[in-house]
Amino acid sequence: MTERRILVTAALPYANGHIHLGHLVEYIQTDIWVRFQKLRGNRCIYICADDTHGTAIMIRARQEGTSEEALIAAMREAHIRDFAGFDIEFDNYGSTHSPENRALCEEFWRAVTAADLVVEKDVEQLYDPVAETFLADRFVKGTCPSCKTPDQYGDHCDKCLSTYSPTDLIDPRSTLSGATPELRSAPHKFIRLEKLHDFLDGWTQSGEHLQPEVANYLKGHFLGTPGDEHNPRKELRDWDVTRPPKYFGFEIPDFPGNYWYVWFDAPIGYIASTRQWCERHGEDFDTWWRSPASEIHHFIGKDITYFHTLFWPGMLKTAGYNLPEKVHIHGFLTVAGEKMSKSKGTFVLASTYSKHLDPAYLRYYYASKLGPRLDDLDLNLEEFVTKVNSDLVGKVVNLASRSAKFLEGQRLAERYPDDGGLFEAGAAAGTRLAELYEACDYNSAMREVMALADRANRYVDEQKPWDLRKDSERRAELIDVCTVTLNLFRQLGVYLAPVLPRLARQTAELLGRPIEHWSDSQRPLLGTSVAKFEHMLTRIDPKQVDAIIEDSKQPETAAPTDATTKASRGDDGPEALAKEPLTAEHCTFDEFVKADMRVARVVEAHNVPEADKLLKLVLSLGGDERRTVFAGIKSVYKPEDLVGRLVVCCANLAPRKMRFGVSEGMVLAAGAGGQDIYLLNPDEGAKPGMRVH
Ligand code: MSP
Ligand code: ZN
Repeated sequence: MTERRILVTAALPYANGHIHLGHLVEYIQTDIWVRFQKLRGNRCIYICADDTHGTAIMIRARQEGTSEEALIAAMREAHIRDFAGFDIEFDNYGSTHSPENRALCEEFWRAVTAADLVVEKDVEQLYDPVAETFLADRFVKGTCPSCKTPDQYGDHCDKCLSTYSPTDLIDPRSTLSGATPELRSAPHKFIRLEKLHDFLDGWTQSGEHLQPEVANYLKGHFLGTPGDEHNPRKELRDWDVTRPPKYFGFEIPDFPGNYWYVWFDAPIGYIASTRQWCERHGEDFDTWWRSPASEIHHFIGKDITYFHTLFWPGMLKTAGYNLPEKVHIHGFLTVAGEKMSKSKGTFVLASTYSKHLDPAYLRYYYASKLGPRLDDLDLNLEEFVTKVNSDLVGKVVNLASRSAKFLEGQRLAERYPDDGGLFEAGAAAGTRLAELYEACDYNSAMREVMALADRANRYVDEQKPWDLRKDSERRAELIDVCTVTLNLFRQLGVYLAPVLPRLARQTAELLGRPIEHWSDSQRPLLGTSVAKFEHMLTRIDPKQVDAIIEDSKQPETAAPTDATTKASRGDDGPEALAKEPLTAEHCTFDEFVKADMRVARVVEAHNVPEADKLLKLVLSLGGDERRTVFAGIKSVYKPEDLVGRLVVCCANLAPRKMRFGVSEGMVLAAGAGGQDIYLLNPDEGAKPGMRVH
């Protein structure tokens, strides 16, 4: 078979949140596939990047008083660290906020423009005059127009389940600034996807590139069939690909002041990241993206199907790039049968898991659950412990631990002994196993590997090397039995290498020969010396799993977690607010001392009549240094009781523009808000301006 040239991508994770176990389903699935291809001797590269643009990043940067660039740089580092902790090995990890991506976006834009696919239309939307940005539906809250329940999101009411447009809300407010949004109109540019209808119909329905259920879904929901009365031909909607200011993204050269929508530039990031890889390795870019000699494989979750099976092929086709050979789509992770939940501790960050358990366990567990379909996959914690302990430790590693010690410091036999055909049967299984990996049917592959492991263990049980050892006359037999056992173990090590790269390395160290190619499973290893057996994988203690869950418990935040809601929100979905705080990590001493905490005296305090929670405070920081601060403490404190008292204030917080003026700091208080607010109060004797350490 000739060597294939395969370019593999996983979806680009958003730079506004940390990697969690849900993400890892995808990055591990893809990593296994890539490692498999490399082991088969194909040229294969694994390309990814951070997805950095959009409103959510912009808002989060403002909230944290930092720049978007600083935020995405920090998150990129965290992502790279998390992935490395799970042995996920990218050939290039780029960023959509890169010069390569900007240049490619311009190129794609010229192509869609030249193909006459772009139209301009005015779009009316709510606008936040304080945050100075247009508001996606979920950034607006107000009273439901049907049942009058307050505090409902802009597109639907949780109480009466009615759906509406945010302009129908009674007393709408921006969740970004609290300001009353205004209806404003702005020009947007759209891509007329319908012009590519026939092409997309052909490509999606060819039976070659998509899982059958995906092709059927697209046919039923978006494409239709001419003349079919049950599912007539449907028109693809124009796709809104630009955003008016303010927006964090790339400005469009022929549409000044406007930006490409994050989903326009994100998939182009696949190409930009490849370009970086090509530059670093002196590779010819066109042979990877514009040549029939290469295959592109995208791995994604089912929530972003539409973008990858309609928009993206349409863009690639128009710009003259390779179309994906396959888009591999997986389902969603649930934990204990439910959506991941912060309050239950099942919203587990990659970094939290890594603190407690070996990544190999999760890689194996996911492999044992992943099939070629789109079914959701459940992380059942008891099953996780059992599978790892009984399969990996009890069946696979056990082969080595039961035999290696008898040959420590000695050599494997020079001729492969009679094993009743076990090794040969294992070698023959390689063909089928390779097909299963290729088809992403890891679940079946793991089952077959475990069946081989069972047979090997039966062999050891029958041969009883521990008895042979007691009889010095049977040394040769002992060497033979251990040679067979260790070779069967190594054969499994080859088959499991894509899933368990560390185990493959440990096997190589034990037996003195690296595992470099799938074909290493076809010939027994003879005459090499056996090193001291070092423990490879230990059993999981269920307490370690409990500790992960305990460590992950957090109060549920009000902001929607976009992973589950964005599919139904169509175009605007991906920009959901931060999923979890950046502060999940340790705060370094340097970061801690950056916050300039000071003793301050309240010199003026006023009600803010338009705001039901806020008081306006003027603080003295000693001398004539004054700060105006808006504090949400009106429910508990009266202005006249505050004047004269000492408080603690963060003096270098980035100023925040509010509807009533600029807030130049923050006073510190304990409690959850409402009636539960307690101002921190330095002991008498502290002087305004003193630093608080
Ligand atoms: N930034 C977009 C992708 C742009 S690709 C040009 C995005 N990012 S994401 O961070 O929300 O998700 C990244 C990938 O992880 C997606 O393919 C998504 O489906 C997958 N998953 C996120 N949460 C998941 C689960 N709970 N379960 C399984 N996969 C999940 O979408
Ligand atoms: Zn309602």
